[in-house]
Amino acid sequence: MDGYNSWMADLRDHFVECYGAAPVVAFAPGRINIIGEHTDYNGGLVFPAAIDLGIAAAVAQNNSNRIRVWALDLDETFEFSADQILVPLAEGGWRNYIIGVVAQAQRQGKSFSGFDLMFGGSIPMGSGLSSSAALENSVLLALNQLFDWEFSRLSLLQMAQAAENSFVGVLCGIMDQYASMLGKEQQAFVLDCQQLKADYVSAALEGYEWMLINSQVKHQHAESGYNSRRQSCESAREKLGVQSLSDMSLPALEEKRALLTPNEYTKARYVVEENHRVQQAYKALQTQNAEALGQLLFQSHTGLRDQYEVSCPEIDFLVDLAAASPAVIGARIMGGGFGGCTLNLIDQNKREEIQDILAAYSQRFGIQAELIPVRIAAGARIIFQP
Ligand code: GLA
Repeated sequence: MDGYNSWMADLRDHFVECYGAAPVVAFAPGRINIIGEHTDYNGGLVFPAAIDLGIAAAVAQNNSNRIRVWALDLDETFEFSADQILVPLAEGGWRNYIIGVVAQAQRQGKSFSGFDLMFGGSIPMGSGLSSSAALENSVLLALNQLFDWEFSRLSLLQMAQAAENSFVGVLCGIMDQYASMLGKEQQAFVLDCQQLKADYVSAALEGYEWMLINSQVKHQHAESGYNSRRQSCESAREKLGVQSLSDMSLPALEEKRALLTPNEYTKARYVVEENHRVQQAYKALQTQNAEALGQLLFQSHTGLRDQYEVSCPEIDFLVDLAAASPAVIGARIMGGGFGGCTLNLIDQNKREEIQDILAAYSQRFGIQAELIPVRIAAGARIIFQP
């Protein structure tokens, strides 16, 4: 067992104490994304990696038809019947993730009896590190093992995405679930979200390290803001008559610009440019060109702030401080947006100077931001089984 996951042994022991049965325990990680934001649902390129923080789900059958769930970190429980037709709950919060993934298995014709499920995690919620995908994937992987469903990993992650789309109501793309399920130790990968083809590459840069700064801002409008960006892209795509925005070249987009509203044009242009940045970033990482990679991160942030409009003042402040810091050679907002974390590429020899960023942030907003070192790790896995 990895040194950092002894909390999962505690989860298993707690489960045994409470339910008197030895559970299957599955872990699924969150992710970082080096570059390629809001491109996944536009059929484009993303560049994520799984990290060592995530969620573990413990499950065992309970000889009844009840599904009993305990969210340990929130200390909240709820239960429902394994026989009922599942629909999302109004104001269901985390419960809809669970109902959602169980419903996907139901829809695929899988039968199951009642079970107990307990889950907990090491990942900050709502900070853009994909705690949602980690929850969906950990529960699905654990149930797949418990009931011998024999779904492939690809099917499981697609079920996780479907659960989030139709039960949680976030029209997310495939990046988070894919990275959480199929990430590899020490590797990031460029994923073509149309072909679902991944190209893995070492995420290490000699002399540099990846670091997250959690702004601690959790925006209320994240879901509606996300979905409305997606709608703008969809209407742009329809007007342009292409299968996906990522099929457009910049000159082709310019030529058809008159078909679009200014908002649709700006969003579409961002997508085309961001796809291009992913390709350049992949080359920069392969050739160990840290400076070039850092510049691409800053450019991506500018696009997300001014064109895609998913940043916020706190995050912009953190990125501006990063740009002025000798310790940071690249930074940007990461994930869906409206708050969460910035991703920073740090010069190892100057890492102490990062503290100045936190101090200035606290002075300006009265918020204590959190530094989170990135450790790139393997995707979802079974940790214990009876
Ligand atoms: C969220 C979604 C992903 C992706 C990112 C933005 O994390 O879950 O599918 O769209 O936002 O890149």
